[in-house]
Amino acid sequence: MKTVFIAGISGSIGKQALEVLNKDWFIDNFKIVGGSVYSNWEMLKDVIDKYYLKAVALVKESFEVPSTYHGCMIFKGETSVEKAIEYCNADISIIATSGFSGLRHTLKSLEVSKRICLANKESIVSGGNFILNNAYKKEKELIPIDSEHSAIFQLLLGESSKPEKIIITASGGALRDEPIDQLEHAPIDKVLKHPVWSMGKRITIDSATMVNKGLEVIEAFHLFRTKNITVAINRESRIHSMVQFTDGVIKMHYGLADMRIPIAFSLSYPQRKYYFDKPDFFSEKIDFHKVDFKRYPALKLALDILGIEFLQNAYNAADEVAVNSYLKGEIIFGDIYRIIYSTVNEIQQTFSYENESLKFTSLDDILKVDKLSREIAKKYVLEVKK
Ligand SMILES: NC(=O)c1ccc[n+]([C@@H]2O[C@H](COP(=O)([O-])OP(=O)(O)OC[C@H]3O[C@@H](n4cnc5c(N)ncnc54)[C@H](OP(=O)(O)O)[C@@H]3O)[C@@H](O)[C@H]2O)c1
Repeated sequence: MKTVFIAGISGSIGKQALEVLNKDWFIDNFKIVGGSVYSNWEMLKDVIDKYYLKAVALVKESFEVPSTYHGCMIFKGETSVEKAIEYCNADISIIATSGFSGLRHTLKSLEVSKRICLANKESIVSGGNFILNNAYKKEKELIPIDSEHSAIFQLLLGESSKPEKIIITASGGALRDEPIDQLEHAPIDKVLKHPVWSMGKRITIDSATMVNKGLEVIEAFHLFRTKNITVAINRESRIHSMVQFTDGVIKMHYGLADMRIPIAFSLSYPQRKYYFDKPDFFSEKIDFHKVDFKRYPALKLALDILGIEFLQNAYNAADEVAVNSYLKGEIIFGDIYRIIYSTVNEIQQTFSYENESLKFTSLDDILKVDKLSREIAKKYVLEVKK
């Protein structure tokens, strides 16, 4: 029986991971020993009681929360997740924390666990090869959960030839049919209505701007070590990605749009042990469209900065700041891209003379660029608010 820690256990991916782990084969082969949240103590209490957890982490300090609960150790505060991961010493860590804070969780789990099932794309986007080199050096298995990366990972199994091109698919997000001239002031309730997936707030907004696709392109660049990546819109979200080979063969990954499938695969790999509904391919129409960069300029920006690690980090940090401000009603939808663009530009000017390749060699560097990018992005938010 393998032990599992779930960082971000109360989120969209965390809850779906729990569902998977409660299914037949999974229930017999895995034991959940710990988890973490930012502030959701009510959910933690439930999972502690249900799974008799060894330790949990609650990042937001709260005096009402005890230091042990029904025999489970409770870590609190900024570094609590790393402490809980270390204490639980699980065979597998699922990193489903949202945002840049997940990077520290990924790094700690790389020290402790044999397999890391990674949903937190920000770890790779912000940390670049520093994270992947850590995994390779420690001989750890890093299995992607993001549906596109899980698809590419699966398509490449058994292939000794490197693909010529990776084609990542996108749904187009909530505003895909909105006239371009109405995007600038798109209201939050509309942006949060994703046509296919049900996800956390940030990733849903990032789907509408296609920042999410930008993050995924960067993640794919690091995971699969190629710059030859394009994005195609598949409105039905049935094709989760494709790989193209020199002989003109394109392999596509076809399946239902449900995150429990890649979550389950990341746990059972190299086997498939999850039973689920099958797509009805006789009745389904599958088509692809080119991306209009006028509608999705943030994706173009991600492609332009591909491989420049400091700028990729700034891209994510600025988006986190901008999306937060958008959710609070401080800026309009169109400002999100402008804030990311200005921040990336300013980081490029700040660092380009110091280090042409702009690659990370330490965690301190990663934290430094993230912090500075956030300060710059907040400055632009304030300018917009004036
Ligand atoms: N949702 C999807 O379908 C999907 C698909 C592909 C990839 N992903 C990726 O998976 C990750 C999680 O996405 P999600 O949609 O599941 O997010 P979510 O629903 O917003 O959940 C986020 C989880 O992380 C915790 N958290 C937030 N900030 C934290 C912090 N500073 N420190 C520690 N824990 C923190 C939250 O705790 P509280 O509940 O206490 O706030 C919650 O458990 C993201 O990187 C996303 O890009 C998601």
